[in-house]
Amino acid sequence: MGSSRGMSRLDQLRALAGSMSRQRRKPDPAHAIPEADRDLASKTVVFTGGTDGMGRVAVELFCAMGAKVVLLGRNEAKGQTVVDELGPLAEFFHCDLSSLASVRSAAAKVLSDHSSIHVLVNNAGVNAGERQVTEEGFELHWVVNYLGPFLLTSLLEERLKASAPARVVNVSSAMEVFGHVRFDDLQLEHGFTTGKAYSQAKLALNMFTLDLSRRLEGSGVTANALNPGFVSTNLLRDLKGAQAVGRPLMRLVASPPLVGADRIVRLAVSSAYEGVSGQFIYEDKARLPNKEALDEKIVERLTEVSRASAGLEP
Ligand SMILES: NC(=O)c1ccc[n+]([C@@H]2O[C@H](COP(=O)([O-])OP(=O)(O)OC[C@H]3O[C@@H](n4cnc5c(N)ncnc54)[C@H](OP(=O)(O)O)[C@@H]3O)[C@@H](O)[C@H]2O)c1
Repeated sequence: MGSSRGMSRLDQLRALAGSMSRQRRKPDPAHAIPEADRDLASKTVVFTGGTDGMGRVAVELFCAMGAKVVLLGRNEAKGQTVVDELGPLAEFFHCDLSSLASVRSAAAKVLSDHSSIHVLVNNAGVNAGERQVTEEGFELHWVVNYLGPFLLTSLLEERLKASAPARVVNVSSAMEVFGHVRFDDLQLEHGFTTGKAYSQAKLALNMFTLDLSRRLEGSGVTANALNPGFVSTNLLRDLKGAQAVGRPLMRLVASPPLVGADRIVRLAVSSAYEGVSGQFIYEDKARLPNKEALDEKIVERLTEVSRASAGLEP
């Protein structure tokens, strides 16, 4: 899938189906996090999407290793339940990634309450059945899966640098291979499909990861994107009609949430990834992302457009 945009659509689908059929029932012991990396006492992890799916399991793994976990989420009641279950190492701040205003106030709260951030995991994601536009004028997939995490990371970047060594993990998807960044219609006003919107946003997240890793070079902070594999979660809950075919498929062939969670935590803390940056980790191995992400001019253009629409200095 490395040279994905050179592959025919049929080959891309075959590769994806092959990858689906190779899903694991359990985390691969060959990639287990070394014992020496499991002591996260005194580490602070900021985590989006820890209230459901693989993120819910990942935050539990982080707490079990002694990390302080700051969950950022849109649903206060769910967040409180998770905090009650995880105990005193966990706390919850409201952060609806579909609202840049909400992202800004969550980032301000994190910065005022936490002098260090050693790990930032942008895990939250959405797969909506229809085109939805937020009050701020963004298409939902674009803002939740890309622009919100972009803004959050940018606002926390200096604190990550001051806490180095630190890591950023952006949870992407195998679907980025089908993506194309439509600079003339980023909000997909024309020809919207869930697939186009989701894959465009995940491709943009991969581009951002590459750009970020370049800017962070020498700072002691690494940034990688991850395809966590096909994992049985609530991600497809809003899909309807023919699109919903993924749900039974998920129940039948997808890995349990622990497998995706283990990959997230591993990329965030394992010494196996020490110094690794700017990579697209596809389940357990680095792969080239969609060719579009390797075009520096396109990546630069996306950064400019994103900074402007997120209200950041050029
Ligand atoms: N499952 C897969 O096969 C698969 C494959 C590749 C990539 N991924 C990616 O893996 C990540 C985790 O997804 P999942 O499969 O675990 O799905 P999930 O069960 O639906 O969990 C998604 C998480 O994101 C949160 N979220 C959604 N919209 C949000 C918003 N506007 N603001 C803040 N948080 C929001 C959800 O919060 P609530 O609890 O409030 O709903 C939930 O905690 C996503 O980025 C997804 O794209 C999944």
